[in-house]
Amino acid sequence: MDTIGVIGAGQMGAGIAQVSAQAGYRVLLADVSRDRAEAGKAGIGKQLDRLVTKEKIARGDADAALARIEPVDGASAFAPAALVIEAATEREEIKRRIFADVGAVLGAGAILASNTSSIPITRLAQAAPDPARFVGVHFFNPVPVMGLIELIRGLATSDATVAAVEAYAQRLGKQVVRANDAPGFIVNRVLMPMLNEACFALGEGVASIRDIDLACQLGLNHPMGPLTLADFIGLDTCLEITRVLFEGTGDPKFRPAPLLVKYVEAGWFGRKSGRGFYDYSGPEPVPTR
Ligand code: 3HC
Repeated sequence: MDTIGVIGAGQMGAGIAQVSAQAGYRVLLADVSRDRAEAGKAGIGKQLDRLVTKEKIARGDADAALARIEPVDGASAFAPAALVIEAATEREEIKRRIFADVGAVLGAGAILASNTSSIPITRLAQAAPDPARFVGVHFFNPVPVMGLIELIRGLATSDATVAAVEAYAQRLGKQVVRANDAPGFIVNRVLMPMLNEACFALGEGVASIRDIDLACQLGLNHPMGPLTLADFIGLDTCLEITRVLFEGTGDPKFRPAPLLVKYVEAGWFGRKSGRGFYDYSGPEPVPTR
């Protein structure tokens, strides 16, 4: 397996392309347009430059990794890939269309994988040409820093597919955990109720944004407080995953906090929109209440 395809050149897709290229894979990178894929590659170039400046990697290795990434136009370019990882917008109809398009050109034996954080793998596999060669590979943000991949098998995923993706993860230097195809898999099943609970606590006036975050950061030794992390992930994404947990289990303990719903309705999505629980317009994030 030497050639990898990555669909989606946003934060997650670019991260996956970067770590794959650094591990020696040739990477075909696509987005909705060639320009977006080129922009994704340019961003990866900046990330690699930062690693060179910090003396984490040699200039020659950074240049070689970047040269292994090839922005491409459209699904037909993925014919040579042994593994294609979809990291597109978290909308099922978009992902299904991608799997149908890529599936039409995919080589016999090639694997199709989704980085979905919340859509059931067994259901998505129905849009792929062969559900036995379909699997969930869930990376974490920021991809180059986070050491984990959740591997989710659908009902029909074959042992050979699981073994091939484990070998890929190992070459990337990531640890693999295997999860069944249950709502939120492992990490989001545990994480999202905590972030949601922090929103309840804020909404009920238990403490300020600063104090909720500082309490968890210092009291639990977490790298970020829950409201900072929710802003970092995106409040729209947090709400979407929480709804998947709520609807997928039918358990009221997963009901979304009203304040989280309100913030998303207001377009306050966190870091990416410039405002969430913090205001990101200045040099440092400032709590909004
Ligand atoms: N891309 C690449 N590298 C990055 C980065 C990024 N976006 N952000 C930070 N880094 C690197 C820095 O360069 C630095 O590297 P160095 O130690 O080699 O110099 C290192 O990470 C630490 O960064 P900083 O010193 O700037 O800042 P922090 O110490 O605060 O670390 C953090 C930043 C790594 C983001 C840390 O705060 C953290 O681990 N936060 C929690 C992240 C987390 O929980 N992610 C999972 C989210 S859930 C998810 O992704 C699932 C999805 O389905 C929702």
